[in-house]
Amino acid sequence: MERAKIKIFPNETNELAEEVANIIISEINMNNAANRPTVLGLATGNTPLDVYRELIRQYREGKVDFSRVISFNLDEYFELPPDHENSYNRFMFDNLFSHINIKRENIHIPQGLTSLKDIKEYCDSYEASIKNAGGIDIQLLGIGRDGHIGFNEPLSPEDSRTRLVELDKVTLNDAVREFGDVKLVPTRAITMGVQTIMDSKRVILIATGDHKAKIIRQAVEMPPNPEVVASYLQKHTNATFYLDQASASELTRISKPWIFGPVDWSNPRLQSRAVCYLSETTKKSIAELEVGDFVVNMMEGLIKEVPLATLKTKVLNEMVGKITSNDRLPVKKSVLILAPHTEDDVVAMGGTIQKLIANLNHLACVYMTPGTGAVLDYEAQKFAMAKLIYSQHVGDKSLIQKDQDLVTAITQHINKKKASRFGMPDTVELTTIKAVVREAEAAACCNYFGVPQCEFMNGATVEKVRMVIEKHKPNVIFACGDLTDPNSAHRLCLRVILSAYRSLPATNLPELWLYRVDSNEFHPAESDMLVPLSATEMEAKIIGTVYHQSQNYKLQLGTKQLWQKVEERSQHLSNTLKQYGVTGYTSYESFKKHTPIIPGTTAV
Ligand code: F6R
Repeated sequence: MERAKIKIFPNETNELAEEVANIIISEINMNNAANRPTVLGLATGNTPLDVYRELIRQYREGKVDFSRVISFNLDEYFELPPDHENSYNRFMFDNLFSHINIKRENIHIPQGLTSLKDIKEYCDSYEASIKNAGGIDIQLLGIGRDGHIGFNEPLSPEDSRTRLVELDKVTLNDAVREFGDVKLVPTRAITMGVQTIMDSKRVILIATGDHKAKIIRQAVEMPPNPEVVASYLQKHTNATFYLDQASASELTRISKPWIFGPVDWSNPRLQSRAVCYLSETTKKSIAELEVGDFVVNMMEGLIKEVPLATLKTKVLNEMVGKITSNDRLPVKKSVLILAPHTEDDVVAMGGTIQKLIANLNHLACVYMTPGTGAVLDYEAQKFAMAKLIYSQHVGDKSLIQKDQDLVTAITQHINKKKASRFGMPDTVELTTIKAVVREAEAAACCNYFGVPQCEFMNGATVEKVRMVIEKHKPNVIFACGDLTDPNSAHRLCLRVILSAYRSLPATNLPELWLYRVDSNEFHPAESDMLVPLSATEMEAKIIGTVYHQSQNYKLQLGTKQLWQKVEERSQHLSNTLKQYGVTGYTSYESFKKHTPIIPGTTAV
């Protein structure tokens, strides 16, 4: 099924980064020994960060000398100054070049400030420099959610070379993460072409996180096609896709292994997954599935392992058994909810929170990161103005002056930012107000649900998580189990939580339940607990979501408001269950139990 060479690595380990870094280091060491330079093609973005950290670590240990390395970066935003906080020039120095002994004159990164009239000549000279250096020995790539490599967006010509390109809508939206607002994202970039990349002697494409799973399946399983530019790498003689389990999760061999040939059908999770898949593809309820459905879908072995009637009853009972209402949720226990951002708990478990409160549990919600990047400027300005207007109402002269100064400073900065084309970093005052906005929303939302304790960690570390656990002594912990970008706040928080959790004494270990925020709820076959919500609980959950006013703006083109997403994901899960023939509720929340690690396996 796969048309390209792939290697899959466990989630939540550094194995992928170590292997890629070791390949690069071996190449450099081999060339250094032969007195030859090494030419590296480098990428920016979150994906290669772990590899760069590993290269730096090994450099510091004296295991590699970069003095003969010549580097060529894939791309840069057009018109963005090289010292802008989101420029790829700045990224490379901050995350790699400033920490190793590469020579300044050996570094090549496209310059975004090249004038439009010189661009053709500039791009041709970039190509010529690569050629003069002897061609790229190893090209490192990430992949965009639209399949781009470099900034070669869908429909980029296969024979393209370094040039100026327009960015795709998906790419612009993804860059909101850095620029804060889609209006501030540069719409053009200079990028190496598809052919430039294909000319490299060796290509290593890395993809991590389940947000890349769909595009990886297309890039690896569909024939080379212009819609998914990364699929052209199938034609390269030495290109490998390095994937973590999350980004590989939609590959047919992982999601539908039975299509590849005999599988071990005795595995109960696989049995449920297969039956659910069949119900979803045939659009029949589980009870309606027939022998023919299994035969046509290459699952004959499954009904040989378990007779059809038994299998259907077993999977249906299993689904029903996962439905956990108040009577099976904890009662009068200490429950700790760890959320990466202030709205994550209500999005993922706003209904369950209500049930836990009704069951007289003691709840503490601890928010791990400030999440200030996701607050729009005018929302912060509004809060600062509210502070001033309040002081004016109560007539406190010293406060009025201070608040007036704050409003002036913030307003001036916002206006300056507005006038700048690509934005600028927030001042301390603005960041602080943004943190205040999010904390106030969370505190008010906790109050709305009746959660007595609401705390802010202000940056997650293993030590802080351990202290929170020691303080609250929870019987049960809920945490975000998103497997998106490993360098996203969600997955970094998960890493920290798992490290802290692993260090707890084995006796009286609290239960650890994972919820999802970034994607849909856990798939019913994957989840261990489905909490049904009454219409009243769902309505209260939506109201709780709206408390997070700063997150109910459309930061990205075409995206929905937070409360709409909450409604949709719940309905999606409910529709899937209805499809199986499990009826009863229109809204659910889903959770997966974390099983402590057996050495050599993965955490989640
Ligand atoms: C970066 C680049 C892009 C990124 C891709 C994935 O130099 O050329 O193709 O590799 O957009 O970005 P991340 O890694 O941030 O998901």
